[in-house]
Amino acid sequence: LRVAELRFNSTEVAAASALLRERQASGSEPDAEIDTRKKTFSEVLAERQEQAQRTVLINCPSKISEKKLLKYLSSHGTIKNHFFYETHGVYAVIEFSGLDSIASLQEATSIPQLEDDCPIPFKSRILTLTLKNPPNQASEKIHFHKQTTVPVGELMSILCNSDNVSDQLQMLTEKYQLTEENTRLRFLACSLIQDIAGAYFPDCIVKPFGSSVNTFGKLGCDLDMFLDLDDIRKNAARRKTGPFNIEYQMKRVSSQRIATQRILSVIGEFIDNFGPGCVSVQKILNARCPLVRFSHQPSGFQCDLTANNRIAMRSTELLYIYGSLDPRVRALVFGVRCWARTHGITSSIPGPWITNFALTVMVLFFLQKRQPPIVPTLDQLKELADMEDKQIIEGYDCTFVSNLNKIKPTENTETLDLLLGDFFEYFGNFAFNKYSLNIRKGKEQNKPEASALYIQNPFEQSLNISKNVNATQLERFVSLARESAWLLQQEGKGPSSNRSQLWGLAALLQASGMSNASKGIKRKRGPASERIKSLLDSLKINTNTGKRPFGTQ
Ligand code: CTP
Ligand code: MG
Repeated sequence: LRVAELRFNSTEVAAASALLRERQASGSEPDAEIDTRKKTFSEVLAERQEQAQRTVLINCPSKISEKKLLKYLSSHGTIKNHFFYETHGVYAVIEFSGLDSIASLQEATSIPQLEDDCPIPFKSRILTLTLKNPPNQASEKIHFHKQTTVPVGELMSILCNSDNVSDQLQMLTEKYQLTEENTRLRFLACSLIQDIAGAYFPDCIVKPFGSSVNTFGKLGCDLDMFLDLDDIRKNAARRKTGPFNIEYQMKRVSSQRIATQRILSVIGEFIDNFGPGCVSVQKILNARCPLVRFSHQPSGFQCDLTANNRIAMRSTELLYIYGSLDPRVRALVFGVRCWARTHGITSSIPGPWITNFALTVMVLFFLQKRQPPIVPTLDQLKELADMEDKQIIEGYDCTFVSNLNKIKPTENTETLDLLLGDFFEYFGNFAFNKYSLNIRKGKEQNKPEASALYIQNPFEQSLNISKNVNATQLERFVSLARESAWLLQQEGKGPSSNRSQLWGLAALLQASGMSNASKGIKRKRGPASERIKSLLDSLKINTNTGKRPFGTQ
């Protein structure tokens, strides 16, 4: 189960262990018969979407009896799962066993009678529960599930107490990855927006994509949503039987882009005017990929709603596959992303910075170049595809295998210690001026044009996913990568005898040592030994000083 722990959340692993023990104890089934098949991306998505539809979000008073609440709600049906969290108030996420419970609960819910304001009577699955009488006794303490990452000081001390860099990377991944509850909340937020879009397009599906579901998401990352109207078209195609063709009369526009802009514009208006808890709605319809950006207060997510974005959905699935193949992939990506964020290589503001997506592709490329490779190339994943996996989107071949069980595990046994150091060394010395990175082939190729950093889009192969990156930002990346490689080599790979000193990954994440490079300030390079000395001096900081090396994200 050690490997599984990184891929599945703790609840799933605990359930699997219990099942395993139960079956072994009863002797009813030999181990080999236990279903260890890894789920496909579509299966995971479909399961979670269905779960989200049976779920409501309830704003509760802060002093509430969990038992009484559950008993009260159980009159509408069996509650399968629930948890609490705090954001702008206390919220309970309640998953019922059946969809009919939602209808029953909504039936019993009234429209608020407000004194000064007037409610817009859009009935969503976000409810408010109040107590008729104040509680007459102190209620038991509710456990709130945290939806944010551990504070930096705590992280640094966890990292310093690890045994080696590999453990540090695994710890970072464990502490930063999305929790089961956070993932549920992400799917619920999508499902709530689906209810809104469903007012116009009843068969639509709103799916999360990007880091919420590609296995590389960090607590607090944005929620990318994809409004999928395609199922509507598929249904229509199936009904074309008999001697006639019958189709809907529909308004026509001159391009798919205009259609997408119109749809997003109207849904953006709905979200803005009627969506409970949806604030700061911005329609960014002239972007390359039109979107509606808003803040969903009840869940605390910053959301980007797009439509007609199937290729991004496909690249999300591709990353999901890579992230599920070998635990080293996620650990290395989490480490590199965190390192990049700390040093301002990536940013939450759009601009000439390298994006998390581009960084992830760089890690994948590096892992393809190992001997033997740790992950296959996209062309190899395409060779493993069967008929159902074939997908041509907007003329681009997006075919690759969806069944993870068909991909042979790597024979490479290199440690994460080695990989992290070599990643920095590899890209610290990469000829970015000459070559582009291509994960479809797992090879560098001559750059087709003069962008500073050229990472070929795996599907729209004539596009560069890092076109936005300028020469200054690439130089900063390269110089920080060199310094980091060098720092890891100097230090050795283990903790110092004095555990309060930052070492390994913790030292790399400490910004001050490399602040000059990270700010892009040109500095006079002293002799190497002096630079080492000042760097090491600056790292002699007790982890409990609470110094914050990270930017906000
Ligand atoms: N995407 C893409 N091509 C790009 C940019 C993005 O295909 N040039 C797709 C990727 O699948 C990416 C998703 O859109 O994962 C969402 O993009 P973005 O939010 O920028 O990246 P995330 O992977 O979600 O990372 P972050 O945590 O920074 O949001
Ligand atoms: Mg994102």
